[in-house]
Amino acid sequence: MSVPNELDAITRWQDRILCGDALTRLQQIPDHIVDTIVTSPPYFRQRNYNGSNQLGHEKTLDQYTERLVGVLTECHRVLKPSGSLWLVLGDKYVAGRQMGAPWRVALGLIDRGWILRSDIIWHKPNAMPSAVKTRPTTDHEYVFLLTKSTDYYYDADAIREPHVTFTEKSRMRGGRKHLHQRNGTPEQGKNSGNHNLHDGRWDQAFHPKGRNKRTVWSIPLSKFREAHFAVFPESLVETCLLAGCPIGGLALDPFLGSGTTAVVAQRLNRHFLGIDCVPEYCEMACRRLQKAGWQIPADCLVE
Ligand SMILES: C[S@@+](CC[C@H](N)C(=O)[O-])C[C@H]1O[C@@H](n2cnc3c(N)ncnc32)[C@H](O)[C@@H]1O
Repeated sequence: MSVPNELDAITRWQDRILCGDALTRLQQIPDHIVDTIVTSPPYFRQRNYNGSNQLGHEKTLDQYTERLVGVLTECHRVLKPSGSLWLVLGDKYVAGRQMGAPWRVALGLIDRGWILRSDIIWHKPNAMPSAVKTRPTTDHEYVFLLTKSTDYYYDADAIREPHVTFTEKSRMRGGRKHLHQRNGTPEQGKNSGNHNLHDGRWDQAFHPKGRNKRTVWSIPLSKFREAHFAVFPESLVETCLLAGCPIGGLALDPFLGSGTTAVVAQRLNRHFLGIDCVPEYCEMACRRLQKAGWQIPADCLVE
């Protein structure tokens, strides 16, 4: 019998959906095999997924935070040293008081050794209206980008956004006169050779692939609602995977739900590994992958 090598150890976990409790399943996964994690855990007392041992129904917010931080500490172990975690969390009001749950979890993760790299605001332009009259209506959640090291995989070019400065819509459009011609670059304009044009502002205004991604992402809620609440919009996952996971790498979602992370990973030529404690959701994710036309292993679903 041959001894499994390192590659076997990784391929065994590629393109699999594990049914069961996230912490228990994560404890079966070897160290350092995952490139990035994109996940949206259940929020504190928000929904009942009817899963055995489901997270989110702890008696107190402290208990919820501790349990979720425990699961994400196990995620830290399975992540490569160059890996990243994109954690989507929304807040909740109890008896008129905002809980601050996303930040409590983020601070708990920092205490356990995670490095917080960015607190991204996911703005939802089509968020449900609410009847509140004594505070603004909430239309955002957080996407925390956390890493194990300051030297981590991040493909900034893959997620650049369109320039605003010096475009037709910009108030600074007159600045284009410095460029000699419309859509020109500093090298072509009357200031060519000026070294001041080659600092951060060059990147801000002229990088051919667009400006560096900003921290407010305006993304409408998903339309996929096949018997599952709180489905990720595909473009949210896409941004995280393009920046955080190399082609052929492994993306983990320990709270897979309807399988959005897996579907997007397959489309972008990345491998996936998903976990969910509700067998119906694991099956739903498999169906969704098949419907999308992806070849998934016959033993994709691990009960
Ligand atoms: C917010 S939903 C995730 C939705 C997902 N992002 C999508 O696009 O469909 C959270 C999921 O976590 C699962 N879950 C809750 N407690 C869990 C646990 N202890 N272990 C694994 N999964 C759990 C729920 O069944 C639910 O599907």
